[in-house]
This record gives sequence, C-alpha cells and structure tokens, in this order.
Amino acid sequence: MTAQAAPAGEAAEPGPVPRLDHLGAPSGEPGWTLAEHGFDPARAGYRETVFTVGNGRLGTRGSLEEGHLGALSGTYLAGVYDAHDSPVVDLVNCPDWLDTEVWVHGVRLDVDSAEVVEHERVLDLRTGLLHRSTTFADRDGRRTRVRSLRLASVADRDLAGLRVEVTPLGHDADVVVVSGVDAHRRNLERLPLYPDGLDLAPQQRWDKWARSTHLDVRGVGFHGDGTGWADVRTIERDVRVAYAFTVTTAPQPERATDQVGAERAGRRCEFRAAAGEAVTVDKLVGVATSRDPGVSGDPGERARATVTGRTFDDAVRASTAAWGEQWRDADIEITGHAKDALALRFGAYHLQIAANPDDPTVSIGAKSLSGEGYRGHVFWDSEILLLPFYLFTHPEAARSLLRYRHHTLPGARALSESYGTRGARYAWEAADTGLEECPRWTPDGKDRFWTREEELHVTADVAHAVGEYVAVTGDEAFLLDAGAGILFETARYWVSRLDERPGGRLGLDDVMGPDEFHSHVADNAFTNRMVARNLTDAVAVHERLSRTAPERLAVIVAELGVDDDEVAGWADTAARIVDPVVRPDGVVEQFTGYFDRLDVPIESWDENDMPRYPAGYHHFNCEPTMLLKQPDVLMLMYLLPDEYDEAARRANFEFYEERTLHKSSLSPSIHAIIGLQVGDPSMAVRYFERSGYVDLDDNQGNTADGMHIAAAAGTWQIAVHGFGGMRVLGGRPTFAPQLPERWERLRFTVRWRGDAIRVDLGHDASTFTLDAAPGTSLTIVVDGAEVTLRAGEPVTVPAGR
Ligand code: BGC
Repeated sequence: MTAQAAPAGEAAEPGPVPRLDHLGAPSGEPGWTLAEHGFDPARAGYRETVFTVGNGRLGTRGSLEEGHLGALSGTYLAGVYDAHDSPVVDLVNCPDWLDTEVWVHGVRLDVDSAEVVEHERVLDLRTGLLHRSTTFADRDGRRTRVRSLRLASVADRDLAGLRVEVTPLGHDADVVVVSGVDAHRRNLERLPLYPDGLDLAPQQRWDKWARSTHLDVRGVGFHGDGTGWADVRTIERDVRVAYAFTVTTAPQPERATDQVGAERAGRRCEFRAAAGEAVTVDKLVGVATSRDPGVSGDPGERARATVTGRTFDDAVRASTAAWGEQWRDADIEITGHAKDALALRFGAYHLQIAANPDDPTVSIGAKSLSGEGYRGHVFWDSEILLLPFYLFTHPEAARSLLRYRHHTLPGARALSESYGTRGARYAWEAADTGLEECPRWTPDGKDRFWTREEELHVTADVAHAVGEYVAVTGDEAFLLDAGAGILFETARYWVSRLDERPGGRLGLDDVMGPDEFHSHVADNAFTNRMVARNLTDAVAVHERLSRTAPERLAVIVAELGVDDDEVAGWADTAARIVDPVVRPDGVVEQFTGYFDRLDVPIESWDENDMPRYPAGYHHFNCEPTMLLKQPDVLMLMYLLPDEYDEAARRANFEFYEERTLHKSSLSPSIHAIIGLQVGDPSMAVRYFERSGYVDLDDNQGNTADGMHIAAAAGTWQIAVHGFGGMRVLGGRPTFAPQLPERWERLRFTVRWRGDAIRVDLGHDASTFTLDAAPGTSLTIVVDGAEVTLRAGEPVTVPAGR
C-alpha cells in the first residue's frame, strides 16, 4: 500500500504521507491500481491519457516529467479555451508544471538519452496519486534511480504538486535537478496527410502535426522570496492564467540558482550525493485564472497565496483525505471478476477527476481534461451519458454541469438567432460561450460534417437532463435558479423551428439523430419525441411553479417575456408533432424512409469483437443503408422508458442491434442495458467489455487522444442501470438485479434526495442500507415489491421474490 486509505465506503482518516520508498511497487490492493512495467514508446501516448491526474479544475496528462520524443504532455484547465491560430476553439494546452530535468554526472536522464533499466508507474485510484520509479544507466553503465509522486489536489483545486527523488546507485554523483514551469505550449492542430498505410515510429506520433499558438507569455521568473511564477494570456479570448511555484529540497543543495528563460523558469538545485543517498525536490504549484467564477483579485497573487506556507506532505495528506470522502459515494465494487472491477473503478476515477462541483461555468469535454481529442468540446455526452453517474454519486457535480447550460444560455440564444429562430438552441459542440464550435469538415478537409447544422437533439437532451436532475435530487430550487429558464427557452426554440406537415401536424426536416450515418433526414423519431417531451416538461414545470412559487415564476417569465398564451402554445405544439411510423411488429422507423434504405448485413468483427464496416463502406457512405453508427430509436426508448413497453423495446432491440456498427464508444452501453431490460442478457457482458475496456485496453487505438469519458460513464450505467436494474420509476428508486455469472457481488451507492442508499447486490440476495439521519425511512422497490428502509438498518431481500 502506498497510502493509508480506508476500505470502500469509509472516509479515509488523514494518515501518514506515502513514502517514496514505496514508490513503484504496486499498492497490493487489487482493483485499485493501474500499473505500467517498462517503458514502451508505442504505448507512451496511451499511458499519458490513462495516468492523467486531475481535480475537475485541471487535468494533467501522465507524461514523464522530463519529456521525450513523441510525448504529448498537457495540462488543461476547465473553461480555458482559445481560438487564436486555430479554425475552431481549442481547450488550451496550458503551461506545463511537471517540467523537470535531472542531470547526473552531466548526463541528462530521460528515455532518449539514457538507457532505461527499469521503469514502473502506478496510479493509485484511491488516492489520485501517480507514483513513478525509473532506473537509468548512462553510457558508462552508472545507474541512477529517479522516482516521483504527483498529484492534482482534490482538497484545493488550485493546487498541484510533484516530488522527485534521485538516487545514484553504486556511485557518488553530482546531481542536478531543475524543477519549474514551462509556458511554451502549443496545441496540436492539423494532422499531416500521410500516404495510406504509412507506418510511423511511435516517437513520431505527433511530430509532423501543425501546432497552434494560444498563449502570449507575459513573463516568467522568481519573486524575491523564491516563489517562481509564470504569467500567460490566451491571445484571442484574453484569459489570464497564472502559476506560482515553490521548490524545496532535502537535503539542502550545495548550490541553488534561478534559471529564467523567455518562457520557462525553474529552480536549479545542485547536489553532491553519495552512493545510495537520495535527494528530494518538491514542487508545489498554484494555479489561478481571470475567469475563475466567484473570486476576484489578481490571478498571480491568488496563485502565489495557494502555495505560500504549504508543504508537499500536507498537500498529499489533504488530497488523500478528500479522495476518501469522494469514494465513499462514488465507489463501485465488483467481486468475482478482477478486470471488470478495475474497469469500473478506473472509469469512476476518471469521472471524478473530470468534474468540478464548485464551478458552474464549465462542463466536461468528450475527452475530459485528459487530452486534446475533440478540442475539449462539450457534447450531449454530458447530459445523456455522464450526468447519471454524477446524479447518483455526486449530485453537486451534476448540478454544476447543468448550471453550465444555464450559464451559456446567452450563447445558445445567439446561436438560435443566427439560424433565424427564437429561444435557445444548444450547440452540438460547445465550449466557454455556448456558441457553436463544431467544425464543418474533417481535419483532412475531405468530408463534410453535418452535425453542427443538424444534430438538433442536443437542445432537447439538455432539457431532459433538467427533469432527471430534479426527479432524483428533489432540488426544486434548481428550477427557479436555472432549470425553468432552460426549459422555457428551449421550448420557445422548438416552436419556431418545427416544420409544417399536412393536416396541421408538425415535424422536423433536415436533422440528424444520434446515429450520425444519416443526415438531412425528416422526422427522426428520437428527435421528434424528445422535442415533444421538452415542450410538455416546460408546460409541466410552468404549471408546478405557478402553484409552488408564483412570485418567483412571475419574475422568470417577465424576464423572458413568456406569457400564458405562449405556454399554452407549447402544449399545443407538442400534441401536433407527428408520431413515428411503427411497423406491425412494433419496430419504430428511425426517420421517414429509413425502412426503404439498403439492408446491408454486418458480417465480420474485429479482434475486440467490434463489428467491421461491411466491404466498401466507411463512415461517410452509409447514408443509403440501414446501418447505424450508434443507437437512435433504442436511445429514445432508454431515455423515455414510460413511452414504450417491454414488447416494443424487445422488437426494436432485435431489429436495430444487428444493424449497429458501434462506431461511437457511447453505443455499447445502451445496447447492454436495453438487452438486459428486454430479457436478453446474452450480449450484455460482451457489450460491457466493449464499453468498459475501451481505454483500459486501448481497444480503439485512440486513447492517446484522451479518455472516452462517456464510455466510462456508460459502463457505470451498465453496472447500475443494467445489471443492477436500478431505475427511477413512479418517483421511486427501483432495483431488479441480474448479475452476470462471473460477478459475485456488485456494490454501489445511490444518492437519493440528500440521503444515500448503500446497495450490495448478489445472485441469491441483495442488501440495501439507508444512510441518512436517524429516524429517516424510504420505500424502494426491489423486483417489483416494496421494501421500506430505515436509516442504518440493512435490509436483505432474497432474489426474485
Ligand atoms: C458520437 C457522438 C458523440 C461524440 C463525442 C461521436 O463519435 O457519434 O454521439 O457525442 O462522438 O463523444
């Protein structure tokens, strides 16, 4: 064990700081660590992503501190975007606080200049600490061990830290460690056009990419008290980003000097170390920006205050304790299958480091803060795939995600106006303003994306999430603060966007459903039904608030200019939206004319058991076929369970499953869950693996670009909503467990209206414990029967009563 950590479900007591002696050794706690043994350049980018440390405010890729050829290091700050020098806005690759050089006998130790004798890294999911141990040999065969410990503090989201320890093995050495901040950063821009089939050395992975500049480095240096600083500004958005850092050592160096370049500053510490004697250099880094909500004051001063008087040990201790608190509700445990267990914990770790409950102005990009894929843009993934995880484990983070959509309403209004419609239209790809940031073309300029124009459903998806949030948390006040505004403005949008159909009916032309293989379609069932629900939810919330909070409602509607006639119009509009075509066997037509498309069978699967495109087909030519990229009708049935019965779900599962290529990592999870809901568990484990192992095994080969964070959340949903059978039905948590054979038990927590239900599911019996104030009780439904829980009293229910 590297740290004193509490068993699952118990808060960690502040304990001793992990000692560097323990670095590199697997923590010994199965299911809680991710390890790397040996350095493989071909896997370096993948490791950088999976070893990301973060706290929702910042994410730092798991790059080696000293850098190497083919590395793509990156620290990304939530909400810090910039469009200078790039066609669409980027999540900015911010100054690198890992920046460290180690020199022994005048030789720089890194994987390119020295031989790697041994290399191990361990990410401790429980503590969020990344441990490293590398033994290098120089040309004369002298060995030196470099170890490090890294964290992004969860106790203080403005704080990060790095400890580096250098030990000459069997020789006395002059050791130099330079530790500081490098503000010379570039984002990846356009990938070069290589001839098909060109096989690049992994060290060249990113080399030929064009880069874009987003930072104007205002300065780097040291204050009189020895605190280092870096001050940058994003060129187009004009966000100031300030870092401050302290460097402390043990023992005292023979000599220490400040090394200040144009864009890089570090403290150079020179030691004379005897054989076997370690020297340790600690760096604490404070981060502040001019966009941090709710705080004022100079970012440089704020960053400096974050590190002043702090020690590395204290930072580790406080963050480890905060992680213990977080895991109390976020842990999900499987016994019986180690790899599945690790997949879920690994996903839950990344989900936790992606969200910041304290910042209502940011959401989570499709690759979280772990890479530059999708340029850090925010998709429907946030509301549909990610939200449930936070809703049931960390509702404060869920609230922040939705508050981001409220915060960006002005951008969504402006976007709507640019299309000649009213109300708020959410962007398919959003960043800091809510305006549309989705590129029109693929990076090579060959193919046109229609998603920005046509994937309108995101607007209804956001509205849907508002309802889900309130239903689970009971946080009615949220409706007054933000939810009603979102619902009313989106309802208003749809009224102005819908197209006329014969007989006074309404529909939508030129849309794209979640299945992105089909563009310019009319009356996509998913979009139409979600829009109808958006409208009726807006009416219902208006009606509810007119009873519960008429005065506050009056202020909201006055601000938005909504009157009773407009609200009545929403109800009328919802009722006039055309229903999808349904075949006699219950299969819902995905959009008008879908059933007339070519039925091309899927006939081969790759080594990860993922369907291959049928011969001659690729992402951009499936239009004339019935092939799906990802669930569309099935997604609708998942999101609106009350509109479709089990027979309908089964018919559609059978029809669409065999036509779906799963070319989005969002896809397998929904198929697993619907399959389980319709009594076909045969494919659920396979889909669980496709979803849960995507980044663990890099089975799509692109984890280097960043985590598929929606797949991590989808995997959580398979476990909880699928195998755990947990759904909110009739306003109550209900469970219908059906664990796969290879799992013994499945344990997780469901936060419910301020309390928590600790759930422990098994094949023969399941136990539920209400964690709430004494005297509290709650009725849940298990396998169709009511079960009343009283705080602190576990109730065991035999399976299938
Ligand atoms: C999927 C979208 C998703 C996006 C970002 C695409 O490949 O089709 O549904 O929102 O990736 O994850």
